Amino acid sequence: MHDGSGRVVVQNLTKTFGQVVAVQNLSFTVEPGSVTGFLGPNGAGKTTTLRMLLGLVTPTAGYATINGQPFHNLGNPGRVVGAVLEAQSFHPNRTARNHLRVYAAAIGVPDERVDTVLQLVGLASAADRGAGGFSMGMRQRLALATALLGDPQVLVLDEPANGLDPEGIVWLRTFMQNFARTGRTVLVSSHQLAEVEQTVEQVVILSRGQAMYYGPLDQLRKSQQGRVIVRPSDPQRLITALQEAGHTAIEHLPDGMIAVTGAEPEQVGDLALAASVAIYGMYSQHADLEQIFFQLTSGQFAGNHYNATQQQPPPEWHQQWQRPQDGGQ
Ligand SMILES: Nc1ncnc2c1ncn2[C@@H]1O[C@H](COP(=O)(O)OP(=O)(O)O)[C@@H](O)[C@H]1O
Ligand SMILES: [Mg+2]
Repeated sequence: MHDGSGRVVVQNLTKTFGQVVAVQNLSFTVEPGSVTGFLGPNGAGKTTTLRMLLGLVTPTAGYATINGQPFHNLGNPGRVVGAVLEAQSFHPNRTARNHLRVYAAAIGVPDERVDTVLQLVGLASAADRGAGGFSMGMRQRLALATALLGDPQVLVLDEPANGLDPEGIVWLRTFMQNFARTGRTVLVSSHQLAEVEQTVEQVVILSRGQAMYYGPLDQLRKSQQGRVIVRPSDPQRLITALQEAGHTAIEHLPDGMIAVTGAEPEQVGDLALAASVAIYGMYSQHADLEQIFFQLTSGQFAGNHYNATQQQPPPEWHQQWQRPQDGGQ
């Protein structure tokens, strides 16, 4: 029953638990057809947000909708949205197949679908084993199989990579991408950017219940300008040449080196050649996404965070640089 666009809307969502503000005035939209990462460190409010979306927690303020409807109005929600939440438990003596049959009956899908989803998540060979003996990764797969029973339009996964081995993580990536490619919606949370970096196109970055960035991951990457570090024979002469060519973001570094923000090595090299300045060393630096993520979520911008809808990075990002050659990465 794909009776809508599969769009997920979170609007001014707030949840407080006593003194704890778990989610604060959070707004974002998840469009179908791609994978959206919901990122933030532990305690940022990811699970609380997803639970509100799934009707498991009542918002203090604001709302969340799937296909334009709050969860409780979805009719047969298992056919619209499938979810894998943290710490799902299974009846220990029940086989994977029987577990799925119980759920299939509950949402009114035929038994054949059970074998289909077991295949989909790679659990077919373990179908008749008791879920109690499953590894963490197998439990995650079984939880995902359960979520897929209703052939949903929207998939919500809360830290699904937890407990998966590297092979499982690669498998999950491919699975999410293929699912989204069929025009459906995937919202996947993680406390680690690296885990989803290769999979997601959009991200919502959460810190202390607030959105620090919401938009394409590419834009976040590009918003960080690169810079060129150069050691010229005559710094002043090169600086003059650079300035005449319109490069004004120039910084003096120790040992006669200079940093030119927003320039490419070719430009600096050509200008140096034209000005008869020798280059003794040069490399370019690019933003490390992990560092941006850390900056955004380390809490140091609390009370000073920019409006997430502007999709602007804070100026402090420019202080974070990572030499690609450094650290044996
Ligand atoms: N049922 C609850 N009662 C009290 N505090 C809660 C409850 N659920 C979550 N919190 C608090 O809300 C904040 C956000 O938690 P959570 O949504 O689980 O974050 P995340 O999933 O990003 O790790 C945390 O400070 C957490 O302790
Ligand atoms: Mg969580």
